[in-house]
Amino acid sequence: MSSRVALLNKITHFIVNRKGKQMRPMFVFLVAKMLTKGEVNDRTYRGAAVIELIHTATLVHDDVVDDSNRRRGFFSINALWKNKIAVLVGDFLLSKGLLLSIDNNDFDLLKIISVAVREMSEGELLQIEKSRKLDITEDVYYEIIRQKTATLIAACCSLGAAAVQPESEHVESMRKFGELIGMAFQIKDDLFDYGEDKIGKPIGIDIKEQKMTLPLIYVLNNASQKDKKWLINSVKNHNKDKQRVQEVISFVKASGGLDYAILQMKKYQAEASSILDTYPESEYKLSLQTLIDYVIEREK
Ligand code: IPE
Ligand code: IPE
Ligand code: MG
Ligand code: MG
Repeated sequence: MSSRVALLNKITHFIVNRKGKQMRPMFVFLVAKMLTKGEVNDRTYRGAAVIELIHTATLVHDDVVDDSNRRRGFFSINALWKNKIAVLVGDFLLSKGLLLSIDNNDFDLLKIISVAVREMSEGELLQIEKSRKLDITEDVYYEIIRQKTATLIAACCSLGAAAVQPESEHVESMRKFGELIGMAFQIKDDLFDYGEDKIGKPIGIDIKEQKMTLPLIYVLNNASQKDKKWLINSVKNHNKDKQRVQEVISFVKASGGLDYAILQMKKYQAEASSILDTYPESEYKLSLQTLIDYVIEREK
């Protein structure tokens, strides 16, 4: 990560010292180990590293896009060094990740990763398009979270398989497994925004950013014409009014929005789990099962 540019060194040090949960590399390793009974290779390590680098790059950019000032329990890069620098540091991390694959001729893994990066950008843009029009349906919400979040976790799992057994049928079945658990992962993340717990990043900012997530979408679809008007008007014209946003959150809670989202999250998790069921028992499979339970039960 080192560079001749002192400012960049300072910032990469800052990033390396504030690690996240590192769940994505865990998916890479556990999938690879499940398929080989524990025999991972250098490709697995590099793949895991690339994914975490790219994930970190997208978070640095995401906090610019979402105008968010906290990440991983501390200030975000844009909060400390402003947007200009955050954009460039994100690009640096992204290219470092890609080069790690290129320099080692891991082109098959690079392809998996590049597809995920393309989809993530599309997902973030689709989300912005929808938040401007406030016309998001449940299906569009799933499409957004599939692109912006699930594809990267899908990439982790298919890459874990491809690193050890390229061209096997597991590359596709693990991709699907990762995609399903990635959907559950983002629904959980969106639920945090309605909570009150300290999770290391801001809560209650989705409505402020006019981002409609599953709990609100569900409630909108099931509300009376009058309530619907009030909800839309709140998100459209009063999204910066803290008290009004709090009223919307309370309304969503009282109308079963969170319960519905939890139900859908569990459905995705169960579907992911059923793919895992087709694999023989092993300690690695057991760890993957524990990991997918953690996805829906985690507290940050
Ligand atoms: C946050 O991902 C971004 C989303 C896709 C919701 P994580 O919750 O895995 O973030 P870190 O890496 O642990 O901070
Ligand atoms: C997740 O998006 C980040 C990406 C997929 C790039 P969010 O904006 O929903 O995630 P948090 O809550 O800021 O981590
Ligand atoms: Mg975002
Ligand atoms: Mg964000």
